[in-house]
Amino acid sequence: MKIIGTGSARPSMRVTNSMLENFLDTNDEWIVTRTGIHERRVISNENLEDMAADAANKALADAGITSDQVDFIICSNVVNEFVTPGLGCIIQGKIGATCPTVDINCACTGFLYALDIAESFLITKDMNNILIVCAEEPSRMMDWRDRSSCILFGDAAGAVVVTKGDDLKAIRLSTHCKVEALYQKRRLQPTPFLNKEEDDGGVIMNGQEVFKLAVSSSIKDIDTVLSVAGMTADDIDLYVLHQANVRIIEAIRHFVKQDKEKFPVNLDKYGNTSSASIPALLDDLSRGNMLKRGEMLLLSAFGAGFTTGAAVLRWSK
Ligand code: UT7
Repeated sequence: MKIIGTGSARPSMRVTNSMLENFLDTNDEWIVTRTGIHERRVISNENLEDMAADAANKALADAGITSDQVDFIICSNVVNEFVTPGLGCIIQGKIGATCPTVDINCACTGFLYALDIAESFLITKDMNNILIVCAEEPSRMMDWRDRSSCILFGDAAGAVVVTKGDDLKAIRLSTHCKVEALYQKRRLQPTPFLNKEEDDGGVIMNGQEVFKLAVSSSIKDIDTVLSVAGMTADDIDLYVLHQANVRIIEAIRHFVKQDKEKFPVNLDKYGNTSSASIPALLDDLSRGNMLKRGEMLLLSAFGAGFTTGAAVLRWSK
């Protein structure tokens, strides 16, 4: 496969750290030092469905194709206002496509899982263009009284169009069931037969455990994809990592012993946008002319599950 188009969309509302000080026992200095985040975008009057369709349309325009040329849509999403139908079905209607769609919920690692599914479908099925849309509104999952989690996240959508090609040099996905590290439960509709209590509330996260899992698993994944691709860390031009915490990115950077310039960061402006983080960053880099044809990218992400994934991808757009 190869990526031929990128797009992204973000809510208009900028929420700065100092705005959080109005209702949380926190401060800009703590948030910046511990995370690198200065502000994030949060949905106010937008719908995630519209943002997802906007990102998708931008990716199609960038790829130079129309929605009737899309053969399959993979939508990565954890939560949106619709329990059913899947967000992919709604995006299909909004962009005027007619192809089948599937939704996946692999938390922050969703883009890597979607890439691997797309690669398999391009090889095994008679398909040319696959649209991947990662659309997330983690702001609607948080308990906004919990200062250790709500400060981290922002909402966004990121999309790419992939077609047949030879750019994916290696990919590795993994899941290690560790629900208690990061989860959210919700209360479902009552029934006349229900005889148990159900939890309802915001995301529960053990930040330090997630931090350690993120660094240790990313390092392992990076080692694996580099060796599958027959490359060393020096051969990678840019490390496009999941934007969760600048300290996690720094820890990974120290492991691969590479210069800071190889690690683009936009979490200072957008926070952690779950699976939208890598495709939206790719779009920022591409539109900012910061990606050169032939460059080797290493993508790596981690999230609730615990899911992780990494890939070596040549940029040939
Ligand atoms: O996509 C995956 C999503 N999740 C993540 O990426 C999370 C990964 N983990 C992290 O990024 C970090 O663990 C956090 C940023 C969540 C927390 O940083 P930390 O350095 O691990 O801090 P900590 O949890 O050890 O807390 C240190 C102190 C505590 O106070 P005491 O017990 O030392 O008095 C916390 O209560 O900082 C306090 N604290 C805060 N203080 C001001 C926690 N949150 C805040 C806050 N403002 N927002």
